[in-house]
Amino acid sequence: MSANASFAGSVSTADTVSASNATAFKQTGESLATSSEAHVIASDVVKRFPGSIKNSDVVAIDGVSFQLSRRTFTSIVGPSGCGKTTLLRIIAGLESLTTGELRVAHADVSRPINTMVFQEQSIFPWMTVRQNIEYGLQVLGHGRTARKQESDFWLSKVGLIGFENSYPATLSGGMKQRTSLARSLATKPELLLMDEPFAAVDEQTRLTLQNALLKIWDETRTTVIFITHSIEEALTLSDEILIMGARPGRIIDRISIPFERPRDAIELRTNPLFGELMMRIWNKLSHAL
Ligand SMILES: Nc1ncnc2c1ncn2[C@@H]1O[C@H](COP(=O)(O)OP(=O)(O)OP(=O)(O)O)[C@@H](O)[C@H]1O
Ligand SMILES: [Mg+2]
Repeated sequence: MSANASFAGSVSTADTVSASNATAFKQTGESLATSSEAHVIASDVVKRFPGSIKNSDVVAIDGVSFQLSRRTFTSIVGPSGCGKTTLLRIIAGLESLTTGELRVAHADVSRPINTMVFQEQSIFPWMTVRQNIEYGLQVLGHGRTARKQESDFWLSKVGLIGFENSYPATLSGGMKQRTSLARSLATKPELLLMDEPFAAVDEQTRLTLQNALLKIWDETRTTVIFITHSIEEALTLSDEILIMGARPGRIIDRISIPFERPRDAIELRTNPLFGELMMRIWNKLSHAL
């Protein structure tokens, strides 16, 4: 499937795409013959935000290059302000880049190219849990029966059976994030972009959400890019961790996570290698400030 995928050239070099239209996705029809499983390719991406004073541009990202394979879970960790959200927004097509190139493959045009889950709740407060989960499907034109079938499936997957008619204001933070996760996955995006989705919940809820995501990911194998400040969370969930350094934001290391799946968020923490990797990443990060 992916061997015939085309890249949706989300953004190209600044020479060919101006900042104002750089977020428009465009099918390039380019073959992936040289990188059959590549899903996201960043080449020397630079993002400068204009400063309020003349010549005081903020270089949010400087020379970021990486290639992510389809069906992998990648986390990005790095100090506050190093450009993680900016990078994710560029990948999502919500932000332009200044120079460099960012390409996202789109293998199945009947599926959304990506969906983003934010730290703050990305569900509509005026809709019930079920209506939220079905929202994207409705936008895509799915009929009532198909929507109901899909939302039933996701309500069960995220453990919200019995709460389908509840409004977000009556849910706990963890339940809201479960709704958000179900809503994002219901449309079967090829790429799921998550920006600190579990940062606002307590530790116990966070571990439960990590286990829920691990289980769902084992079943879906959607390509995920996940931003977190928690090294433990990145180690628990990921196949790979990209470590970013600050000022300017760059990728300073890339670590493969060897833990077999299925994984359990608690059990993993008893693995001596978990502690070793934590120290290794922490040492990198402490020199990255
Ligand atoms: N719209 C914007 N206009 C100007 N500067 C911006 C804008 N968005 C981000 N920046 C700047 O770009 C840099 C990177 O910001 P970004 O939000 O990507 O960091 P981050 O790594 O996600 O931080 P955190 O971990 O705190 O969420 C910061 O210096 C920030 O002030
Ligand atoms: Mg951020």
